[in-house]
Amino acid sequence: MNKIRVIGGRPLTGKVRISGAKNAALVVIAASVLARGESIIENVPHIRDVEILLDILRGLGAEANWLTDDTVSIRVPDNINHRTPYEKAKLLRASNLLLGSMAGRKGVADISLPGGCNIGSRPMDLHLKGLQLLGFETRLEHGFIKARAGTLHGRDIYLDFPSVGATENIMMAASVVPGQTIIENAAKEPEVVDLANFLNAMGARIRGTGTDVIKIEGVPELKGIRHAVIPDRIEVGTFMTAAAITRGQVVLENVIPTHVQPIIAKLRESGAKVREKGDCIEVIGASRIIAVDLKTMPYPGFPTDMQSQFMALLSLAEGTSVIVENVFENRFQVADELKRMGAKIKVEGHTAVVKGVPRLYGTCVKASDLRAGAALVLAALAAEGETEISQIHHIFRGYENLVEKFTSIGADLQLI
Ligand code: EPZ
Repeated sequence: MNKIRVIGGRPLTGKVRISGAKNAALVVIAASVLARGESIIENVPHIRDVEILLDILRGLGAEANWLTDDTVSIRVPDNINHRTPYEKAKLLRASNLLLGSMAGRKGVADISLPGGCNIGSRPMDLHLKGLQLLGFETRLEHGFIKARAGTLHGRDIYLDFPSVGATENIMMAASVVPGQTIIENAAKEPEVVDLANFLNAMGARIRGTGTDVIKIEGVPELKGIRHAVIPDRIEVGTFMTAAAITRGQVVLENVIPTHVQPIIAKLRESGAKVREKGDCIEVIGASRIIAVDLKTMPYPGFPTDMQSQFMALLSLAEGTSVIVENVFENRFQVADELKRMGAKIKVEGHTAVVKGVPRLYGTCVKASDLRAGAALVLAALAAEGETEISQIHHIFRGYENLVEKFTSIGADLQLI
């Protein structure tokens, strides 16, 4: 079964429990390479990217076992192989997060250049700049990034862009490099903070995550510990938008509201009612969706990972919305598929102008990347008639139990 069929037009109602964050689980799993002894990681989502990363670790000689349906035990021996296999590493971007932890643990790392979504060129120049400043020699050779420890010492590192991955790789390597490292213009995403919490519990000395400046005092070694991953703020945003686009009423459980403030603000601007109640959020969709302008920015700005989902919502707004994608250079691919459903969208460079239409129509569409796929599910839930979405492997990279969760709140959605 490699398609999702949706019969649209039904308001979603009910409760959904949010899973652990893909982009926190992946980097915490990568960081476990730094630990001597067992790491036990809780609230890990059973998604394709997590399964692939665990498989890569097993292939390198680590033990990685599911203890329960959301808890993983990982043991990484001293003789772990430092070279990731190309055929698996190319399947996901997050394989590049093994660069910092492997270099930190072994002093050497050969990391196959990552694959992942085709949403942009995805360079790693900032990752390499950081490692070089710490004293690693790095070179690109036959599709691999090779890092070799020279004279390692903490340094001041300025990031030209607050790259999430570069901040994470530098933090992991610097946590075991002697001396003080300061990362300036660091990424402030909650997943970066979660990684620092994991590393500090392992014995690292990291301060300032969640701000522009992160200070790291290197320590000789890190020990495995138990850690629970934060909830997935992008899954929260996706289901909140599903409630809004279907004019439904949905309660999301296991949420950290502060992580989704930019999404809540934009949903309210578009007319939806959003109520925060502890670790729950209730969204009540409005009959009239109001056009809003959107600019994606690094955290705490509006997240790029929610841009496609909002494009689907705004396709049904009264009025014209202007969306500016400031983080990736090729993240409007879902526009062509939404237009096949009747949306009126004009893309020019980093800007998409969305002229709202009264209704969308079900048809055959294909997912081009993870969040575009999620956006097509949302559009299909609101469209008149039947939609078939192909290339759905993209969607299962990042959403756990997607079909079960949507059908549990009334969606007529099934795998075919
Ligand atoms: C992480 O990707 C997430 N992935 C992405 O989520 C997310 O969209 C992105 O951060 C931004 O929030 C994981 O955490 C596994 P970046 P990452 O480095 O680290 C440029 C999803 O849908 N850049 O912050 O790769 C880059 O080209 C995925 O869950 C450089 O120029 O993102 C991009 O334009 C998609 N040089 C911008 O920075 C570098 O060395 C943001 O990239 C690194 C990045």
